[in-house]
Amino acid sequence: MIDPESYVAPAYRSIGESLVRELARLMVDPAMIALAGGYPGPELFDREGLREASDQALREAPTACLQYGPTDGMLPLREAIAGWMHDCGTPCSADDLLVTAGSQQGFDLLVRTLLRPGDAALVERPTYTGPLRVLKVAGVQTLTVGVDAQGLDVDELESILIEARRGKLPRPKLLYVVPTFANPSGATMPLARRLKLLQLAVEHGVVVAEDDPYGQLRFEGEPVPHLAALVDQVPGARNWVMHLGSFSKVIAPGMRTAWIMGPAPLRRACTLAKQLDDISNPGFTQMTVQRYVAAGRLNAHLPVIVEAYRQRAAAMRDAIAEHLAGRFDCNVPQGGMFMWGQLRGPIDARALLKHAIEEKVTFVPGDIYFADQPDPLALRLSFATPSPQQIREGIARIGRALDRAQRG
Ligand SMILES: Cc1ncc(COP(=O)(O)O)c(C=O)c1O
Repeated sequence: MIDPESYVAPAYRSIGESLVRELARLMVDPAMIALAGGYPGPELFDREGLREASDQALREAPTACLQYGPTDGMLPLREAIAGWMHDCGTPCSADDLLVTAGSQQGFDLLVRTLLRPGDAALVERPTYTGPLRVLKVAGVQTLTVGVDAQGLDVDELESILIEARRGKLPRPKLLYVVPTFANPSGATMPLARRLKLLQLAVEHGVVVAEDDPYGQLRFEGEPVPHLAALVDQVPGARNWVMHLGSFSKVIAPGMRTAWIMGPAPLRRACTLAKQLDDISNPGFTQMTVQRYVAAGRLNAHLPVIVEAYRQRAAAMRDAIAEHLAGRFDCNVPQGGMFMWGQLRGPIDARALLKHAIEEKVTFVPGDIYFADQPDPLALRLSFATPSPQQIREGIARIGRALDRAQRG
């Protein structure tokens, strides 16, 4: 008898469930405090505004909501996204955009259209797990570039690209980078690094996938322009930057509304790939998001979200100083959702997680964010979902878990 499971492609048999999703399942226990997932605080969703926008969409544009629509997205939504990009400091036109079902889909489309098995791509060390999994399934070799408090180390990037040009490493076609409030490091690249990155991309012929779901969640410091906003400062760079924007963290991930902005030939290939995938994003959510953004509701609600994350990050910072001093070193980001740090040892993050789950708190062991050279002492804490009070209690529980782990 043939087992149909043997037909499943090897890449899908070996990839396994994502640890972050497994940890999310522990949340059925109401006593569990989640410092693991990058899930927006649910009470921060603008339910009333979205309900009104969806009513309006269905009442005023029923055919657009319910009929098949163009793969690259409804024009009114693309116009609304162009308006939002303008507000974010990166003007573009509706024609420069492809609407995608999350930036996760955007990256998958890019990989499918640009890379073949055996090709090479660059990622940060550490980086977000979603793209690592996409690259793995695609059979792409990943090369990693180190990250410090200022994000991607462009000098190391340069050395890798020079080695690749000399034939000592495979030549990467794509670089995946989260320049602002990166997941997991929370780091933001300063302007000078961004410009150097663009110069290297042009010089070495590397497409840059700039993933920016967190850029507008800034609660401190001055904004730094998107890579996509700097392309005219570096000759040729406009051809090499594919910007992945998303409303997941500022409206709601359930809307699955995101976009790719970038040069037409690459974007067109992604549109064709999306057509094979899901034909288009759902019309109803597209028109709901369009009504929501065009009415100015996103700009009006964003400060509420940013203020909540500012308070949550401060609660986490203070609780770490109180309960984990001398045992855990971490960054304090100026925005986004994450604190990233290293245990002083000897207990590593995986061992600590077992005790933490018993204490009813979750975090993500940092090793999953490395394509190579994993750091067993690293871990990521998210301050997005729980209240400041829960965050304080969650960090105290991690302190107790560390005590228990250290006692053996
Ligand atoms: C860096 C990064 N990119 C993309 C995503 C997924 O975004 P989307 O919901 O738009 O697919 C996440 C989600 O956590 C993320 O951290």
